[in-house]
This record gives sequence, structure tokens and C-alpha cells, in this order.
Amino acid sequence: MIANSAQRASLVPSLPRISLYISKPNFTHDLVYASGVFGIHLLRSDQWDLIWHLGLQSAREVDKLAELAWQTGETGCPLLDDCLTAYECRVINAMDAGAATFFLGDVVSVSHGRTGPVMTSEYFRAHISEQRRRDYETRLLEAQSYLKAIAPNVERKSWPGPTTSP
Ligand SMILES: Cc1cc2nc3c(=O)[nH]c(=O)nc-3n(C[C@H](O)[C@H](O)[C@H](O)COP(=O)(O)O)c2cc1C
Repeated sequence: MIANSAQRASLVPSLPRISLYISKPNFTHDLVYASGVFGIHLLRSDQWDLIWHLGLQSAREVDKLAELAWQTGETGCPLLDDCLTAYECRVINAMDAGAATFFLGDVVSVSHGRTGPVMTSEYFRAHISEQRRRDYETRLLEAQSYLKAIAPNVERKSWPGPTTSP
């Protein structure tokens, strides 16, 4: 999937952490919740097709990794070859957020791909083509309409830890 909700979640350089907000209906949500690991990548500003491939269709419908080059990280999660930087993370806690779960991950490995300018949310919004803007906004409106029903139900439950291997 594509996520623009990832954040640095530690000020301690020797203990890097990333937090991530993933909507519950996303296939990736269930994979991360059950396995307790995730790989997250900084993309270059020329990787529009990859954003569409990962972010506008679900792995419930298509095997998104089939046509991509990737390696298995030390935690067992897939890491893409073609990216600016790949961060491999182990979930150390998760918080229910109604329509989504907030995951907090320890960064356990970092690798680098081909260099170039980073794709930021600002760059994405400023340079997206008109056709793609329409597709993206249509998809976002659809997601917002089904997330609205589950958003109020925040459960104060603990994350049980991994229950499957990646
Ligand atoms: C620019 C962009 C940013 C997105 N950010 C998030 C996000 O932060 N969290 C999230 O749950 N979904 C986000 N999405 C939506 C998912 O990437 C999308 O629903 C995806 O198809 C889920 O795939 P999956 O079902 O294979 O996990 C974003 C999509 C795009 C295009």
C-alpha cells in the first residue's frame, strides 16, 4: 500500500522508530497486525506508477508484489529494490483508532536504492496529473464513506503481539 501517514516516532538516534496509521479495511492492515512487521519505503519523485500500483488497488484483488523486484528482510517482510530508502520495522505496540490502527515500529534495518529527489506529500499534491487527481479523489471519497461508519468505534484494547509469521 501507499501511506502518507508515516512519521518519525523517536528523537533518540540510537533507537529509531516509525509510526504508521493504516485503515482497517486495507489488506496490509491485517498483515501488519498479525505478523508484527512491516517494510516502509521512501519513494523517489519519479515513482508515480508505483504509487498507483500499490495505492489504488488492493492486494485482495491483485498480487501487487508479482511484478516488482523485492527481497525478504531479516524479519521476513518484503522490501522493494526500487526505492530511495527501505526501512524494515518490528511492531512494538499498536493502538486502535476506530477506522484504523496506529502502529509503532522499531526500525531494525535500513537499505538504500537508486538515489533521487524524494516523493513528499507536498510534491505529490503539486505535481499530480489531472486524470490521476480525479482517480485519487474518487478512491479517497469511497474510502471516506465506508470508514465513516467504523471511525467512532475506538476500542481501548491491547495489541496481542504477532500471531503469524510474515
Ligand atoms: C497518496 C496516498 C496516500 C495514502 N495514505 C494512506 C495512509 O496513510 N493510510 C492508509 O491506511 N491508506 C493510505 N492510502 C490508501 C492505501 O494505499 C490504499 O487503500 C491501498 O489500496 C491499500 O492496499 P491493500 O489493500 O493492498 O493494503 C494512501 C493512498 C495514496 C494514493
